[in-house]
Amino acid sequence: MKPRTPFVINAILSVFLITGAFYMFLQNFDFITNPIFLATIAISFVLLLINNSLNALIDAEKFRLLSDKEKKEYLELVKTPFLTRIWRDAFKQSKAEEAGEIKLIDHGYDNIKELDNQLPRWYIGLFAVTITYGLVYLFSYAFTSFAHPDVEYEEEYKTQLAEIAEYEKIAPQATIETAQFNPDAVADGKVIYEQICKTCHGDGAKGLSGPNQTDDYWINIQEEYNNAKEDSEFKNIFYTVWNGSKNNPTMRAFGATGEIKGNDIVKVASYLYQLNKNSPKDSEGRSVDKTAKEPQGNLAPWSKAYKGGSAPAEGTRTSSNSVK
Ligand code: HEC
Repeated sequence: MKPRTPFVINAILSVFLITGAFYMFLQNFDFITNPIFLATIAISFVLLLINNSLNALIDAEKFRLLSDKEKKEYLELVKTPFLTRIWRDAFKQSKAEEAGEIKLIDHGYDNIKELDNQLPRWYIGLFAVTITYGLVYLFSYAFTSFAHPDVEYEEEYKTQLAEIAEYEKIAPQATIETAQFNPDAVADGKVIYEQICKTCHGDGAKGLSGPNQTDDYWINIQEEYNNAKEDSEFKNIFYTVWNGSKNNPTMRAFGATGEIKGNDIVKVASYLYQLNKNSPKDSEGRSVDKTAKEPQGNLAPWSKAYKGGSAPAEGTRTSSNSVK
């Protein structure tokens, strides 16, 4: 007959297990003060107490039936502290080992003999723990949202999107002074272009009611960008999208009215700038693509085709740029 695990140990273990189970499914420790959690702990204590008293009754009855020698052994064991008992138990040798009478397994051929040793208790215990853990994990993995990669991915994706949105809200917005071409923004710029600008400027910005943006002719060239400086073309695009066209209100002031934020204008302007750079043009700076709209405005000083001469004054318009 063996002494039982003390009540305190069982109580600590059950608090530990219940907390672990709650955490597993809720993924945070907010439940610690929750009445349902506290009630679960309380009920498990009551059950443990009942179990404890029943065991005490059973043990008393069992004890009565022991021989005097067994009674003495049992009383010795009860006196040993619980942890010492556990420790000894884990490394205890089997009775057969103690008595030096381990069985030999005879395989019957090759003259191989095998000792029928018992596995150590701690080893068997570890085995049981890994199996239990594996089963719990498998169940949670397959049937709950705990540790499920898809669910975790979705959640992380959502929080990241929220963080990006939050950042965009507080991020300093680009202005005409700070705006710079950003090749990494081109893809995002294309999305904005297709949502807002395509209706007027057409597919691939080849022109519709708004002018073709893939040639070297521009209606709106600001005085300060009317030169061959490296970033003049980009700045000029940014300026027009921010301020709109002075001559034609159809091209509205997206930036000044707050319809599009500065950083988004950088994106869409980067897209248009790169598109313009990469569009094939003839020696006069016209689109090679025959489906593109006829040039409107004047040859830009930043273009390859530009051969000097007097640059057009701001707002100079050709007759072909009116919106029909
Ligand atoms: C409602 C129609 C419309 C929309 C929407 C529109 N545009 Fe325009 N856009 C025009 C017209 C028309 C012009 C020509 C203005 C002029 O004649 O001065 C123009 C001119 C421009 C120019 C200068 C071209 C030049 O040759 O001077 C740029 C750059 C431009 N738009 C970019 C954009 C971008 C980027 C968007 C989207 C954020 C956009 N536009 C949305 C109609 C539109």
